[in-house]
Amino acid sequence: MFEKLKQRWKVNGLNLVLIIATFALGGSLCGYAGRKLLMLAGLEKGALWIILYVLLVTLLWPICVLLISIPLGQFVFFKNYLTKVWKKISGNKNKPGITRIAVFASGAGSNAQQIINSFPKPLLFSPEGRKMEEKVAKIEAKNNIYEVALIVCNKPGAGVLQIADKAGIPSLLIEKERFFNGDNYLSELMHHRIDFIVLAGFLWKMPVALIQAFPKKIINIHPALLPKYGGQGMYGSNVHEAVIAAGEKESGISIHYVDEMYDHGEIIFQAMCVVAENETPASLARKIHVLEHANYPRVIAEILQK
Ligand code: GRF
Repeated sequence: MFEKLKQRWKVNGLNLVLIIATFALGGSLCGYAGRKLLMLAGLEKGALWIILYVLLVTLLWPICVLLISIPLGQFVFFKNYLTKVWKKISGNKNKPGITRIAVFASGAGSNAQQIINSFPKPLLFSPEGRKMEEKVAKIEAKNNIYEVALIVCNKPGAGVLQIADKAGIPSLLIEKERFFNGDNYLSELMHHRIDFIVLAGFLWKMPVALIQAFPKKIINIHPALLPKYGGQGMYGSNVHEAVIAAGEKESGISIHYVDEMYDHGEIIFQAMCVVAENETPASLARKIHVLEHANYPRVIAEILQK
């Protein structure tokens, strides 16, 4: 049960304990406050007392859990939780939520750029702050149900970080120790309310805890036709060198769900290109990038609209 809650709320063990404690303390506090208020009003216990008590507790509960969540460091979780509950109660279904994507990348970020271009960020403010651009972005964003809400990168100075800066998208520079042995940055992903993870040239293996927290919600793009030319060490130029050395006549791209093994999860989409007689790793990489840019944003959109 606790494992299910951890996955559902995308939190680690410590946060789960603090969240449960907030629920318990918040509940007790609102019960206590409700009884105190009725006592101050001088009401005797009876049918009216019960009705008023239920009403008071319902009204006080969100305030009490929010209050308790502050010292326990769970304010962001409860703010988002209560917003969701309110949306359910008020039946606010005509405005579907925007799917918030985190793009994980370690390199130049040309794929990240394409994905950002396809899903303009709502309420985008250009770095120069030009009024016209803001207006256009707002109009475009109205019909847009996706946004790249976060860029996650493990390499200081990587091109993708500049892309994030330019687009006004928050970026997160991650460290090995915390990613593999700490909370896997789950709390940061939760803080940014991430719903879906897209790997675009991210060279670290995804920790099991993240895969479990985002079931079937992490995808990767690989610059070859999997299951061939995948696995540890098969990245960048290594892949294209191996394809050419094997005398392959075709190569391509594979978009797949991420599981515990490198380049292994269920394949969602593949596209092919010809490997020419005189192909070099650099020329093949260019062909592959064209395929990636043309297809990755489109395939992401299709998955998210399912
Ligand atoms: C792409 O070729 C992708 O298939 C691979 O890494 C490369 C990233 O390129 N996983 P970029 O950083 O998006 O330009």
